[in-house]
Amino acid sequence: MSDAIDPERPEPRLEHALHRHTDYGAEELDEAHVASDPFVQFDRWLAEADARGVYEPNAMVLGTIDADGTPSSRTVLLRGVDDRGFAFYTDRESRKGRALESNPVATVLFPWYTLHRQVIVTGEVRRVGDGESDAYWATRPLGSRISATASRQSQPIASRAELEERVAALEEEVAGAGEIRRPERWGGFRLRPWRVEFWQGRTSRLHDRLVFSRERGADAGGWRLERLQP
Ligand SMILES: Cc1cc2nc3c(=O)[nH]c(=O)nc-3n(C[C@H](O)[C@H](O)[C@H](O)COP(=O)(O)O)c2cc1C
Repeated sequence: MSDAIDPERPEPRLEHALHRHTDYGAEELDEAHVASDPFVQFDRWLAEADARGVYEPNAMVLGTIDADGTPSSRTVLLRGVDDRGFAFYTDRESRKGRALESNPVATVLFPWYTLHRQVIVTGEVRRVGDGESDAYWATRPLGSRISATASRQSQPIASRAELEERVAALEEEVAGAGEIRRPERWGGFRLRPWRVEFWQGRTSRLHDRLVFSRERGADAGGWRLERLQP
């Protein structure tokens, strides 16, 4: 494979996107003002991201490790956060679902670029209980419930038409039955952190990084706070 410049894609086209040097500097994060509990600090920053207009502030990039050690990432939506951890919902037979069943560890990254902030959470993952998954399923719009039932997430399919046929068939069934049950394979996972990093962009790339960490498998609390070099 050659890495010669492709004449169809001359370098200058990328100049604007790749070579900007935006300076981050308006805010800071220090030990005197950060909350002593990372969940409290996360709640603060999530509320600020929402109030300050971050698009989909609860979107997070989830990194997992497949059974053969291959890493993979994708965006999912945070649907609950409390002392137990960060919950999201998906198809447990999807690529990420299978990865989490064989390697129950993960990392999620909240990319709040417009605030010059990111939060990275790492820890162990467990399934959300059936009752809780049922309760969340019930809050989803009907169309989303039908799509999740029709789609075997991450599996190949011959065409869009085939998928739409499955949806149409389910819509008929639902009209008759009046409800659509949560498929066994669809449900939540909860990431219980042992590490939470808060990153605040600062001027000249001299950023603030505060990391909370605790023993793996630790129960509530027990957080140590450290500053990392940027
Ligand atoms: C903004 C955004 C939010 C998403 N939220 C979810 C979600 O909450 N759950 C989910 O299963 N997929 C979600 N997706 C789709 C995933 O990124 C991904 O395509 C899908 O889950 C399949 O991933 P996998 O094949 O790695 O398992 C979202 C995508 C975007 C861009």
